[in-house]
Amino acid sequence: MKNILVVYWSGTGNTEKMANFIGQGISSGGANPIVESVSNVDANEIDKFEVIALGCPSMGNEVLEESEMEPFVESIAQKVNGKKVALFGSYGWGDGQWMRDWVDRMESYGADVIENGLTINNEPDKDGEEECITLGKELAKI
Ligand SMILES: Cc1cc2nc3c(=O)[nH]c(=O)nc-3n(C[C@H](O)[C@H](O)[C@H](O)COP(=O)(O)O)c2cc1C
Repeated sequence: MKNILVVYWSGTGNTEKMANFIGQGISSGGANPIVESVSNVDANEIDKFEVIALGCPSMGNEVLEESEMEPFVESIAQKVNGKKVALFGSYGWGDGQWMRDWVDRMESYGADVIENGLTINNEPDKDGEEECITLGKELAKI
């Protein structure tokens, strides 16, 4: 069974919920999800995975969370060339600029970014939950 790594940072739990729903979708799609907070993941681990998902809410002023997620993303810059990468995260009042910038950045590292990054306003509602599950199922099929 294919293992898919889902790494997230979440301050108030919204992106964590997205990560867990994506994990649920990966399972129902027939693959094995490994859902981990970024604080538990070493950059070298991602070498073992063909498909990864990274989650982070919009923080600061439309940027990634700066103490853990930002350095993690920087640390995998040389490791994602040709890898399938899904991006996701929750946001509050912005227009999603952090996600557009993040997609561009991962593409500049050579990653094959799946769709355009899944963004959900605040806590995922029932529709948001479904979107996350659907993304997980898509990842399982790759
Ligand atoms: C310090 C801080 C900065 C934030 N900056 C933004 C921002 O620039 N744009 C935005 O849309 N939301 C911003 N938010 C809102 C969060 O993205 C939103 O609350 C999100 O649901 C948090 O996800 P989490 O529960 O996974 O931490 C910010 C929240 C905090 C606490």
